[in-house]
Amino acid sequence: MRRHLIVGNWKMNKTASEAVAFIRDVRERMPASPHADVVIAPPFTALESARNALGPSSWIGLGAQNIHWETHGAFTGEVSAPMLRELGCRYVIVGHSERRTLFGERDEAIQKKVQAALKHGLSPILCVGESLTDREAGRTESVVTAQISNSLTGLTRGDLANVTIAYEPVWAIGTGRAATTEQAVTVHRLIRLFVEAGWNRETASAIRILYGGSVTPQNVESLLASDAIDGALVGGACLNPDSFATILRLAQIPRA
Ligand code: PGA
Repeated sequence: MRRHLIVGNWKMNKTASEAVAFIRDVRERMPASPHADVVIAPPFTALESARNALGPSSWIGLGAQNIHWETHGAFTGEVSAPMLRELGCRYVIVGHSERRTLFGERDEAIQKKVQAALKHGLSPILCVGESLTDREAGRTESVVTAQISNSLTGLTRGDLANVTIAYEPVWAIGTGRAATTEQAVTVHRLIRLFVEAGWNRETASAIRILYGGSVTPQNVESLLASDAIDGALVGGACLNPDSFATILRLAQIPRA
């Protein structure tokens, strides 16, 4: 069975020293590894301090929030996959809705980022999700599956083994209005069917599909109780050590 994966997306929060203090605090609250995979994604500027604070064999993995698809060159302000690998990152969030809406990222760029991540040994966490207008117009399925097919086109089954999909309805992000478990499960199931149709059943049953959008200690248990939901991408509630550790504890629901 797929292990739960909890990813804390810090967005543009915490300096390097705040990151170190946060990691210490979470570790005190949670000294042993939970029965779930855990990743934190601090801003670029805090990655090195976070890596040092975590140590070489920590149960908390390190991820970045974005990458450029080229390895190096004249791309002012950008950071590449090899740079992130050297800092100890194993994961990278790609195509977050804030990148799409605030920074104009399109599926073509997201596809190149996914490919670059895989090529350099980073596991991409591909974010997809519909806006409220899309949902109200009945376009959830077509929007989400188009984002997935445009971003994952050309990938092999082996590649897919290193990809995570995060379903994050845009209307649920940072709004305090999470999708209901039922709404999330419906979309997770159609994503899995879409992966099955595009690759095969084995790939579809192995891929982890996370839910993101106003996940809190209050709603995480009900979301993770479903077999369709393999973990959470947490924004606001991952910034506080107490609420993050509580989410990690609640993620330890045994899976059949
Ligand atoms: P939120 O953010 O938990 O604050 O809604 C989730 C995300 O943007 O990944």
